[in-house]
Amino acid sequence: MKPRAPKGTADMLPDVARAWEYVERIAQELFSRYGYEPVYTPLFEHTEVFTRGIGEATDIVSKEMYTFEDRAERSLTLRPEGTAPVVRAALEHGLVPQGAFVKLYYAGPMFRYERPQKGRMRQFWQIGAELLGAAEPSADAEMILLLWRFFEAVGLPDERMRLLVNSMGDETCRPAYRDSVRAFILERTDDLCEECVRRADTNPLRAFDCKNPGCETVMDGAPRIVDALCEPCAAHYATVKRLLDDAGLEYEEDCRLVRGLDYYTRTVFEVQADGLGAQNGIGGGGRYDRLMEEYGGPPTPGLGFALGFERTLLAMEAAGVAIESHPLADVYVAAVDDTVRDDVFLICEEFRGGGIAAEADHQSRSLKAQFKQAGRLKASFVVVVGPDELAAGEATVRDMATKVETRIARADVVSEVDALMRESRTLDDADAVGGTDDGVDEGSDAGALGGIDGEV
Ligand code: HAM
Repeated sequence: MKPRAPKGTADMLPDVARAWEYVERIAQELFSRYGYEPVYTPLFEHTEVFTRGIGEATDIVSKEMYTFEDRAERSLTLRPEGTAPVVRAALEHGLVPQGAFVKLYYAGPMFRYERPQKGRMRQFWQIGAELLGAAEPSADAEMILLLWRFFEAVGLPDERMRLLVNSMGDETCRPAYRDSVRAFILERTDDLCEECVRRADTNPLRAFDCKNPGCETVMDGAPRIVDALCEPCAAHYATVKRLLDDAGLEYEEDCRLVRGLDYYTRTVFEVQADGLGAQNGIGGGGRYDRLMEEYGGPPTPGLGFALGFERTLLAMEAAGVAIESHPLADVYVAAVDDTVRDDVFLICEEFRGGGIAAEADHQSRSLKAQFKQAGRLKASFVVVVGPDELAAGEATVRDMATKVETRIARADVVSEVDALMRESRTLDDADAVGGTDDGVDEGSDAGALGGIDGEV
């Protein structure tokens, strides 16, 4: 039997890997405009980083972690998310100076033993941002805007996304609220599923997340957190919403939005996208003002979000946003016959040294087959090298778009082709200004959002 990738995992083949690099680059550029710096934590942590951070009663910790013992019998866990590790690292290295804040972002794979389906994987890729040390509601509003701006920057139209916000309260108001939800559930055990009833004691707020239609109807009548917030939490929430209003960002208040991690306090939010079915949450996050203390650190407010790469890509696909593939070669160097193969090899290397992506044949193919290959690679120019040209100290360059052929000096082949490439780009730009432009800079990263080519 041929080996296959484990269930719930996927190889990132070149098309998808390029899409990952593309969205990661957009995140890097955008996040750095908001003052974020990169951080990379290990793919596995001591298990207690997650049990203490995310909470024993959550689905993630109780059912979904990849936990194993290493050879020294330490319990380790593949990270199911990035917030707990970043907070652990910030505490370990004293990254949050007293009275200041730090902004960190990360990108990489996460692991959860979930039932795989469209948009739900066991190894999936996230990009996340965490802001540690900031308590003010302006930080919440900025965080939410950053997530929204990211999805806009990858090309998702606003009308295909929804922003949900809620406040989870804090240690002052949430315990009493949780008790009221527990009591509400226990009075309706006949109308709720076993799982909701079972969780009444451990994590009653999860009942809001139950997808069972009967439970949804019952929970619609449950006490609402917004009515139970203490005065400081209510004021914080009101300011967050006012700032979002001021920034012109539309949102829906969803008092059922509880999210699956126990560390949240106050603001929580989620962005959902059209066309994804059940797994429509493309990104989400919230505030976690007690998490650092959970690890024995000083009181340090914090907040952040993570977005799922696979779901973002599915949302882009559903919205008809595609990532244009860059040509694998700008120049193809073709050999007329076998006597010039060594020269072709060297000319190709000269192009690469000169900063131009170049490709040549490695299979002794005919000239015709080499031209076909140049077409497949979307090369703009083919440099044809033959014994006669070489003897004359020359080579022929063919512009693949215009079919115009030019003789150039062998010694200047790189600079001559470079000049031709620049010239043709200038002409393309002039054409684009003439009306076919989609408003995106040619050659810039944003330019990769041209049309629909089904790349993703
Ligand atoms: P989360 O909501 O569990 O939050 O995950 C964030 C995003 O990761 C989701 O919106 C979804 O797009 C994606 N995602 C989650 N699970 C899967 C899966 N099994 N397969 C594919 N995609 C998935 C967190 O992880 C928090 N750490 C976010 C946060 C950061 N809160 C504060 N700071």
